[in-house]
Amino acid sequence: MLARREFLRTSLLATGAAVCSKPQTLVATNASDSRIEILLDESLGVISPNIYGHFTEHLGGVIYDGIWVGENSSVPNVNGIRKRLVDELRKIKAPVVRYPGGCFADSYNWRDGVGAADKRPRRTNFWGGTEPNHFGTNEFIQFCGLAGAQPYLAANLRSLPAEEFYRWVEYCNSPAGSTTLADLRAASGSAEPFHVRFWGVGNESWGCGGNFTPQEYAVEYRRFVTWLPHYGKGQDLFLVASGPYSEDSSWTRGFFEELLRKGPDQLNSVDGLSVHHYAWNLSRGRTTDWDKGKGSALEFEPVDWYELLREGQRMEEIIGNHWRALGEYDAQHRIKLIVDEWGPWYRPGSEATPGNQLEQIPTLRDAVFSAMTMDIFNRHPEKVAMANCAQLINCLNSLYLAHEDKFCVTPVGLVFGMYAAHQGGQSLRTVISAPAVRYDRDGKTAAFWGLQGSASLRGKDLVLTVVNPHVSEPRETSIDLKGTRVASAYVTTLSSPDIHAHNTFAEPAALAPQSKPLTLSGSAFTYVFPPASVTCLSLSLA
Ligand code: AHR
Repeated sequence: MLARREFLRTSLLATGAAVCSKPQTLVATNASDSRIEILLDESLGVISPNIYGHFTEHLGGVIYDGIWVGENSSVPNVNGIRKRLVDELRKIKAPVVRYPGGCFADSYNWRDGVGAADKRPRRTNFWGGTEPNHFGTNEFIQFCGLAGAQPYLAANLRSLPAEEFYRWVEYCNSPAGSTTLADLRAASGSAEPFHVRFWGVGNESWGCGGNFTPQEYAVEYRRFVTWLPHYGKGQDLFLVASGPYSEDSSWTRGFFEELLRKGPDQLNSVDGLSVHHYAWNLSRGRTTDWDKGKGSALEFEPVDWYELLREGQRMEEIIGNHWRALGEYDAQHRIKLIVDEWGPWYRPGSEATPGNQLEQIPTLRDAVFSAMTMDIFNRHPEKVAMANCAQLINCLNSLYLAHEDKFCVTPVGLVFGMYAAHQGGQSLRTVISAPAVRYDRDGKTAAFWGLQGSASLRGKDLVLTVVNPHVSEPRETSIDLKGTRVASAYVTTLSSPDIHAHNTFAEPAALAPQSKPLTLSGSAFTYVFPPASVTCLSLSLA
């Protein structure tokens, strides 16, 4: 009983939900037109905690102001790192953080960010302005340690030689006192190695990361990874090749064909293939222009809500397509997909802090989008080993907004809290059927699915997350656990009558999840999912 209470307590802690103690009793009815069947004995695989990962780049207000406030700041900090941020990351069990970019990574010399802080050079940042290098490798590793997350570093393949990749690995991982770089690390207060396991070999190498063809990149990749320092058993590096953008499987095929021209063993040099997908085109098919196609983060109509979700739903097919392409070269599927940048991308204009590049204020729409995306990852545990939401703070699909002493958790951050309970669970086959949503798309009727979600099981603890995308209609649904009874249950819901609802520095809790206990009799019951909602049902099985 204690373990069950603990499951519910920790699940609720992560959500940060307001808890109502009055239980709601649920019974089964026959009236529902929607159904969810959870097949408790059909596991799809273990949900890697790392699919709930994050991404941070030296861009706009992400690092400076967002993460790093400096040791002398009046903002509460731990050795210069914003304390509130690491406290929040602990609550949602942040598993991994990618750094230092993004496009920035391929213009960055890691040596600029190590050694005595007052001797570090100032450089021109990829995104414009001056990079002061106050925050570098040691500070990032310390940030990860405080947050309880693993580091994932992206190496510069475009503008540094392969030797510098080798040396960065040596700086991070060589044993205390064994190399000059280990001594340099120790001089900054970290004698013990960082044991960085995850390494990206370039970023978007088809674009800002070198403008390569997939064949050219494969040649560079081979050279960069042919010999990297290894420091003993259990310390293998996990190497992520720079992969395609969205559906572009010609990149995936071109890369592997060229890599394998040197022989089948070359496959062993890749552990993950990165995939990036941003939902940005809200033009309803009018343009593919990167600037003109974008919509507003805060001002939108129901049609824009559904269009954004449609752009995000492409993720499921993108995963399937690249997985199939990978299978043509790696029949055993040892290599996994790493979706290390994802999220909506709007046009400028909703910055919480004026001047912060690429900053946008997430709304309930982005919470629903993020929940939908995480459900997709949960449904493909054998394919997706890691995913990193772009980007953690003060940027695109941010979990947090911060400026000086102001801070708020966005609807996206709230959803990460609600979904944390899936980490490490067995993903269960879940059959969901519901009438499609129909909406007007420039005079034509368009359709979008009516209900989606995912379920996972750890011991007797079952987590079901569900998205109702309809902007105004609730969805009455019969939920069937196929004979398994529930001992106790909690529901947490994120929703609002206003689809634009969002949190700001002035109103940091305008949108907040609500939790309440449920009383269920039997193994089937009816639940009404509110409109425009994300729901997490935490069920302790009898
Ligand atoms: O997240 C912003 C940018 O988007 C990243 O730097 C780049 O990798 C992508 O194009």
